Amino acid sequence: EKLSVRFESFANRVLEMNLLVRPDDYIGVKLAGEIAALYNYRVEDVAFNEEAVLNKKAGEDKSAYPVRNPIITIMGHVDHGKTSLLDYIRKEKVAAGEAGGITQHIGAYSVKVKDAMLTFLDTPGHAAFAAMRQRGANVTDIVVLVVAADDGVMPQTVESIRFIKNAEVPVIVAVNKIDKPAANPDKVKQGLTEHGLLPEEWGGETQYVNVSALTGQGIDDLLEAIQLQAEIMELRENPKGAAEGIVIESKIEVGRGPVTTILVQKGTLNKGDSIVVGETSGRARSLMDYTGKMLNSAGPSTPVQVLGLENVPTPGDILNVVKNEREAQKIVDNRIAERKALANTSVEAKKVSLEDFFA
Ligand code: GTP
Ligand code: MG
Repeated sequence: EKLSVRFESFANRVLEMNLLVRPDDYIGVKLAGEIAALYNYRVEDVAFNEEAVLNKKAGEDKSAYPVRNPIITIMGHVDHGKTSLLDYIRKEKVAAGEAGGITQHIGAYSVKVKDAMLTFLDTPGHAAFAAMRQRGANVTDIVVLVVAADDGVMPQTVESIRFIKNAEVPVIVAVNKIDKPAANPDKVKQGLTEHGLLPEEWGGETQYVNVSALTGQGIDDLLEAIQLQAEIMELRENPKGAAEGIVIESKIEVGRGPVTTILVQKGTLNKGDSIVVGETSGRARSLMDYTGKMLNSAGPSTPVQVLGLENVPTPGDILNVVKNEREAQKIVDNRIAERKALANTSVEAKKVSLEDFFA
């Protein structure tokens, strides 16, 4: 239906909404709804509504849910010792008796420290990192920024700080390689202060811990700092209901097909669930933790290797559990169609035009 309104009068009214419009501008469904409301019309979105199918709730109160493990992402410049630091933490803290030992290298681990479990994510190569940055704000609770004490602040250190600030997550600085003769932790502090990470001992708010991934020096202090930060944050999540998670990494393995590491964020992922992940779907045929142990289910903050997707998804893609494979396929088809429509920046790709409003 078209409204019989002259464009000039319309333009003046929407100007009151702080919008400058021209007759051939395209607008989104939400804005179309607001504009239509000015004229007592209602805009109905007849497009496929993924949110409704996936039953998404915004602004949920989580205070009544159980505490979940904090998710800690290790970031920093190349070769500053991120993986070594994680290796040290795993070797020290993973009980030797745990089933199977470490059989698979995945970029996500849950480690028991005293009474708490901490979930660590190692940041992989750049491509994956960019995809995680895209949707990353919800992935991590705390960042450990690793800076080598002999090398100081480097380009990817600065890049990491930018990401941390965008995501508005707390950061703890691990000044690594403190065992090296050339180590100069004060220089690291100075360098990072220039980027807004003023140390606590200099009157700022950022915690610095000197560590060595080689000797283990300071690592208990680092873990304690992480745990304290996590306690302050009171991280809670609903372990019930359909799982939602995010792809950490994904690859094809001969004989196994697509192998995808998922970090479950809410709900519980069960073996056999129908899942949709980005633009692919399937059934969670098998779930495995980072030690190689088979799981029947995985709750919030659990990293898990999933077999059973048709294709390899992209790091940063979201996993949802759906009723059945038919529903999964419908969502995948819709996502592919939407992406293609967006890629064709042609007129028909846009759903609503201001011209639709004028007689
Ligand atoms: P990328 O993943 O490539 O960004 O590197 P990374 O940050 O994971 O560094 P990695 O852990 O691979 O370590 C790089 C090199 O530094 C390796 O040769 C480590 O043995 C060495 N290294 C890491 N931590 C320490 C440390 O505390 N002391 C000393 N002396 N060497 C270290
Ligand atoms: Mg590494």
